[in-house]
Amino acid sequence: MSKPKVLVTRLLPEKPLDLLREHCTVDLYDKHDPMPRELLMDKVAKVDAVICLLTDGMDRGVIEKCYSVRAICDVSVGYNNVDIAAARERKIWVTHTPDVLTDATANLTWALILGATRRVAEGDRLIRKGGWTGFRFDFLLGSDLAGKQLGIIGMGRIGQAVARRAQAFGMDVAYVPSARKRKRPMSRFDDGLRATPMPFDELMRTSDVVSLHCPLTPETHHLIDTRALSLMKPTAYLVNVARGPVVDEVALARALREHQIAGAGLDVFENEPTVHADLLDLENVLLLPHIGSATVETRTAMAQLAVDNCLAVLQGRRPPTPVPELTDLPIYS
Ligand code: DGY
Repeated sequence: MSKPKVLVTRLLPEKPLDLLREHCTVDLYDKHDPMPRELLMDKVAKVDAVICLLTDGMDRGVIEKCYSVRAICDVSVGYNNVDIAAARERKIWVTHTPDVLTDATANLTWALILGATRRVAEGDRLIRKGGWTGFRFDFLLGSDLAGKQLGIIGMGRIGQAVARRAQAFGMDVAYVPSARKRKRPMSRFDDGLRATPMPFDELMRTSDVVSLHCPLTPETHHLIDTRALSLMKPTAYLVNVARGPVVDEVALARALREHQIAGAGLDVFENEPTVHADLLDLENVLLLPHIGSATVETRTAMAQLAVDNCLAVLQGRRPPTPVPELTDLPIYS
């Protein structure tokens, strides 16, 4: 029997790729940049599964070309790059990589919180420009965190991991409960984590740091707009490691320029890899190039999980981490 064919849209770590090659014929696009759309449309038509990244637009047009594809395996936790309705119509499993990147992403969130509130990048830039003239008592003063409120929007795995770390910094945690109906909002999580549920506007008004961990959906697009920013304290910081379009970047740049808020830390942007020109000129925003999960260990684990998902579907097993909307698809034999 011939091996199933799998398209891998980007160079992945060697070990998971070797495992995939043992069981499948792999068409690897071994570049570091996204595959051009035309090529993607052409290639998906000839394979049984696709392993792709968040930069591959698996929209309806592409999915309609997936004539024999049984699985689209995203190597990311966020899967807003895949049209889930179109995948369901064709009974294609869509999988993602939760859990394995929780710690790395929560740690990077804290790098942004600490970096923004303690002006780390400003200090680095200043030294490199030769602008440091010596120790001064009132120089590059930032903000303490102890006793202040961290407001989390998106209290899923990563949001909770960020909240857990907040205890080490003596912060109180508030969060906006998910819109999904719960009998009662959780204020105590399984591991004893204490967090106060709060309506969105109240959280924006009272938090000293607002950290975004929600998925990008039509409801969260530009959730942080001019109105939301206007609710924040002038001493507060905004951190985004979720998806760029959750924040209206023009509104954020204005709020930062006019010191309506104290600062921001961003790992994601509306039109990656383009960063809004106004943000580039501002000292009070710390910018990172979408590296939330970028550690050797985590990226290897993400690729491994994507391969495990892909092999499970192709071998007639249930994939370990399907996206929640598609857990009821048929197992292919
Ligand atoms: C994800 O997995 O969604 C992250 O954004 C990748 O770093």
